[in-house]
Parts: sequence; C-alpha cells; structure tokens
Amino acid sequence: MTDKIIVLTGAGLSAESGLGTFRDEGGLWAQHRIEDVATPEGFARNPQLVHDFYNARRAQAAEASPNEAHVALAELQARWSGEVVIVTQNVDGLHEAAGGVALHMHGRLTGALCNACDHRWEAPMTMAPDDPCPACGARATRPDVVWFGEMPYHMEEIATHLASCMLFASIGTSGQVYPAAGFVQEARLAGAETVELNLEPTDISRAFAQRRFGTASQVVPDWVAGLLG
Ligand code: APR
Repeated sequence: MTDKIIVLTGAGLSAESGLGTFRDEGGLWAQHRIEDVATPEGFARNPQLVHDFYNARRAQAAEASPNEAHVALAELQARWSGEVVIVTQNVDGLHEAAGGVALHMHGRLTGALCNACDHRWEAPMTMAPDDPCPACGARATRPDVVWFGEMPYHMEEIATHLASCMLFASIGTSGQVYPAAGFVQEARLAGAETVELNLEPTDISRAFAQRRFGTASQVVPDWVAGLLG
C-alpha cells in the first residue's frame, strides 16, 4: 500500500468559479439536450450546434478563475509526501490554472481533434464545422472532449492508480455517470479509505466511508489542511 491519494473531481468543483454544473437546477442539461450537443450522433446531425455549445463553454472557461478548492488541491499535490493523482471529469483548465496537474478523462475545451486523422492540436477560441484539420486538411474538426457513448481517456492509467491508492476522494460530482461513478468501488476493493466531498448527498454517497457536505471552497481546503497537518 502506497501513500498515494486519488482525487476525482466533477463540475461542482468549478461551480464557485462561475462555470455551470450539468444536473443542478437550471444546469447545462436543463438548457441543452445531451443527445444534441454531447453525442457523436448529435455532432453528425448538426456540427454547428455542437461547436456553438462548446465555443460558448470555451469562452466562459477562459474567463473563469480557479477557486480555493482548486488551489487547495494544487497545494496537496505540491506538499503531500506521496503521489496525488487528480482525475477530473471537467473539461475546464482550472486545475492547471491553480498550479495543479490533472488527468482529463473527458477531454479538454482547449483541445481540438480531427475526426478523419485523429490529429490533436490546441483549439482556437472559436471552432467551426468547415475548419480544415492542420494535418490532413479534412473539414472534420471537433472539440477534443469525450461524448456519451465514447471511451473516456486515460482509463488504463486510472485503473492502475485506483488499484494502488491509500485514499480516494470524490469532489463535486453527482456520481451519475460511469465509469467515474464506479471508481469508489474499485478503490475500496483495493483497501483504500474513501471520502466524498460534495454540496449534498449523491447517488453514490453510501459507497464512501466518510462524507463531508458543503461548498467545495469550504470543505476542500479544510480537508486538505487536515491531511497536511
Ligand atoms: N461545491 C461542491 N459541490 C457542488 C457545488 C459546490 N459549490 N455546486 C454543485 N455541487 C455538486 C452538486 O451537488 C452535484 O452533486 O456538484 C455535483 C455536480 O453534478 P453534475 O452536474 O452531475 O456534474 P458531474 O458529476 O461532474 O457530471 C459528470 O456528466 O454530463 C457529463 O461529461 C459530463 O463530466 C460530466 C459528467
């Protein structure tokens, strides 16, 4: 058993930075249909609608600042005696803006991907269906984010970490989307301590040995201070 800590983060971590969550009152999935803006089928049907959705989120994320929770997690990564692996479902860059490092299992708003040749590059602020791929020239560019029905990124690496961590924390996620919602079970099977930090109880709260409820900017710095002594 190592002194490795795995932290899974979700949209609730960035809520106090002004970025909308998905399933809270008035959240993104109340404003847009998932099947229209977050599936390969929706993109094939109307790529302009999908680019508009991600262009708006990319612009909003570019204006957002990390909050005390992002900063506390970056401090944990810097000062903890062992490895701290942040696995984020978020596509914003706020972990990095706070000085942290994260595995983006659902991709990043700042990434662009060519559907024709799999080339990846830094996305311009505004993407459009007719943008040519810088590598192959095909007009098949998309945001490098993972849509429903697609395989999340870094899954093998994440499984390896979950099998060898001493502590698994889930922060600001409703635990309704797999495979992320199943990580706590994998960590428990490996003998890890588990804690959920969230605004309110979730569908997976009972899977955690410990639960702390409140806003991320309050409960996360307290939790990190407790770990760092
Ligand atoms: N502090 C802490 N938690 C908060 C805060 C806050 N200020 N505000 C909201 N939350 C909590 C909510 O209670 C909820 O449990 O954050 C969670 C957000 O849940 P979702 O909106 O479902 O977001 P998330 O769990 O990250 O969604 C997972 O679903 O749609 C896909 O790809 C998308 O990555 C996303 C995935």
